[in-house]
Amino acid sequence: MKVLVTGGAGFIGSHVVEHLLARGDEVTILDNLNDFYDPEIKRANLRDNAGAKFVEGDIRDRDLVHGLLAGGAMDGVVHLAAMAGVRRSLEDPLLYSDVNVRGTQILMEELKDARTRFVFASSSSVYGANDRVPFSESDDIHRPVSPYAATKRAGELLAFTHHHLYGTPISCLRFFTVYGPRQRPEMAIHKFTRMCLKGEAIPFFGDGTTRRDYTFVDDIVDGVLRALDRCEGYEIYNLGESETISLSELVEAIGRVTGVEPILDRQPMQPGDVEVTYADITKARKELGYAPSTSLEEGLARFVAWYRESRLTEV
Ligand SMILES: NC(=O)c1ccc[n+]([C@@H]2O[C@H](COP(=O)([O-])OP(=O)(O)OC[C@H]3O[C@@H](n4cnc5c(N)ncnc54)[C@H](O)[C@@H]3O)[C@@H](O)[C@H]2O)c1
Repeated sequence: MKVLVTGGAGFIGSHVVEHLLARGDEVTILDNLNDFYDPEIKRANLRDNAGAKFVEGDIRDRDLVHGLLAGGAMDGVVHLAAMAGVRRSLEDPLLYSDVNVRGTQILMEELKDARTRFVFASSSSVYGANDRVPFSESDDIHRPVSPYAATKRAGELLAFTHHHLYGTPISCLRFFTVYGPRQRPEMAIHKFTRMCLKGEAIPFFGDGTTRRDYTFVDDIVDGVLRALDRCEGYEIYNLGESETISLSELVEAIGRVTGVEPILDRQPMQPGDVEVTYADITKARKELGYAPSTSLEEGLARFVAWYRESRLTEV
């Protein structure tokens, strides 16, 4: 299969590319290597995937996107390029809209038939202030609590409209907090591990009872590939581990895996954060055969082993 992976130099994208290459697919990466975090990390990810063709550019560059997708040039697009992260979206909501909404639409504009499958990276954050857990794809959601979440929900809605009008097969995947080797440096597990190993105090927001459904990256990639291979109609799937861990439990587990007692810097809950994320994955299990299998303890051990080996410094 010929597959375009947008954001393929990033955390999740680099793992998707690695697995696509391993099974023999022909992969093109489109990524602008922006400085949301150190681009050197992205360049290192690209070096790990030298078998893919790399195009440095922006998904908002219409001519470039046309050149890559016109005439059904690809069998599938895995669209992961985005401005990610809840907190930073409060600082620059216009950029988040521009990349995540307009950029997604620019890609879809080149896919106006049933030829190319489109897999869109959405997020558990779309559930926002939803208090019914676990979160199900059939929940009526309309209360996103951050600009980031609203852009991801907008992407899903535009994707439905696009599928309705042009028949493009589209699957929107709601990822639940993904972690593992190459995780973005500002994400909790990466940041906490780094600070713990340096003996620094970990910023600890709220009373530690907020809960997250942490999903190991290999499990997510398995879901992405299954969704790509079975992409038909318009579907939304939760991809999570379907287990929740409190912030306090997470920090304790990081302490156990690193062998360093964490020091906490207690701070109030942050605006835009949600109390809980918890995926009901019945639909993905049934329709995709998705079966996440990595426990938090095992996944953390793999992350920490990678972190020590990669010798990443403060970024
Ligand atoms: N990591 C998670 O826990 C998580 C959870 C839910 C959803 N997601 C979504 O999954 C996707 C991948 O996330 P990630 O954690 O790997 O983030 P990441 O930042 O590591 O990867 C995103 C990549 O997209 C590229 N990019 C950004 N804007 C671009 C543009 N305008 N043109 C071309 N490339 C651009 C970046 O350079 C980066 O390499 C994102 O869409 C994100 O919103 C991630």
